[in-house]
Amino acid sequence: MSISPEHYDELVVIRHYIHEHPELSGEEVATTQFLTDYLTGLDIAVLDTGLKTGLVAQIGSGQPVIALRADIDALPIIENTGLTFASKHAGVMHACGHDLHQTSLLGAAKLLKQREAEIQGTIKLIFQQAEETHVGANEVLETGVLSDVAAIIGFHNMPDLPVGQIGLRDKGIMAAVDQFYVTVNGTGSHAAYPNQGVDSILALSAIITSLQQLVSRNIDPQHAVVVSVTHVAAGNTWNVLPDKAIFEGTIRTFAPEDRTLAKKRFYEIVENVAAAHGVSVDIDWIFGTNVTYNDSELSAVMFDDMKNWHEDVVVPVPSNAGEDFASYQEQIPGVFAFIGSNGPGSPGLHFSNMVVKDETIGVAVDYYVNNAFLLLKRFSLKK
Ligand code: NI
Repeated sequence: MSISPEHYDELVVIRHYIHEHPELSGEEVATTQFLTDYLTGLDIAVLDTGLKTGLVAQIGSGQPVIALRADIDALPIIENTGLTFASKHAGVMHACGHDLHQTSLLGAAKLLKQREAEIQGTIKLIFQQAEETHVGANEVLETGVLSDVAAIIGFHNMPDLPVGQIGLRDKGIMAAVDQFYVTVNGTGSHAAYPNQGVDSILALSAIITSLQQLVSRNIDPQHAVVVSVTHVAAGNTWNVLPDKAIFEGTIRTFAPEDRTLAKKRFYEIVENVAAAHGVSVDIDWIFGTNVTYNDSELSAVMFDDMKNWHEDVVVPVPSNAGEDFASYQEQIPGVFAFIGSNGPGSPGLHFSNMVVKDETIGVAVDYYVNNAFLLLKRFSLKK
């Protein structure tokens, strides 16, 4: 670990402060101010991007330009960790460990600033807002601040991996995320006379059951695809069959052909089962994030190099969760890794009792700093 005990202690205090003061996606005003104050206190330039929340800072100058990214937003979850530094904001929690991510990037910022004379090129530090709503990365990209960036890296902590274990694989490491919202339109009636209406609840039940055959009968069994219906609502009393029923959920895929096929089959199943029940459906399909897709060449270079300074580097199982880091990777060669933050069996991301261990900070700082120098060197040589 390249950070001193004093620096580690400072970062633990910072992380606990950020954890105590979580803010929801797009509302990270105080967090952005805190980060800005800390960075400007280190004499690091915060760029004028026009972003309402989130920021991009810069160390060094000239070519090549590389970017390090951390996300900063929290989730609408009531914290149930029992930590001494638990959230002080009711109903909001850093339940995805973005407090750790931004603290680690602050730690890297301090070290990189101290070593600025060694930096041949520019390092842009992205403290990204609104990852959970999957809009932040695109907002940062739209400012144009990354138009000169040759490569970008980021990471996500993984509570079920041992603390400090780095997981990196090329190509897909996190899933493509699509979202659906379906309204089933029947005709309401007295519960005693279902024959006088068209039962939207029964149709909805049949549709959901049929949807669970999509993966088992349409997708290559070697491929990872998930269909989850997560929210169902209909009716408001016991003796009336309602007009409408709704359900929503998500589909996770890795292969582009699976994403296309899953959407096609989803529409066919929903529309045809609905027709069989005599109801109509309105389908809203929300195209979410793409696969978090690691550049093969950079992944291999980083993987080999990390083995030189860290003993615990593995090829992890991909995650079916999604990440809007994928948006950067559509425009810039990028690598996204996992860093273990607790241990096998620990509550996972987005759980109210999820705990990220402070001891993860050192490896996360090293990940940013060592890979920043590695990438600068690599892109200098390419010129
Ligand atoms: Ni996250």
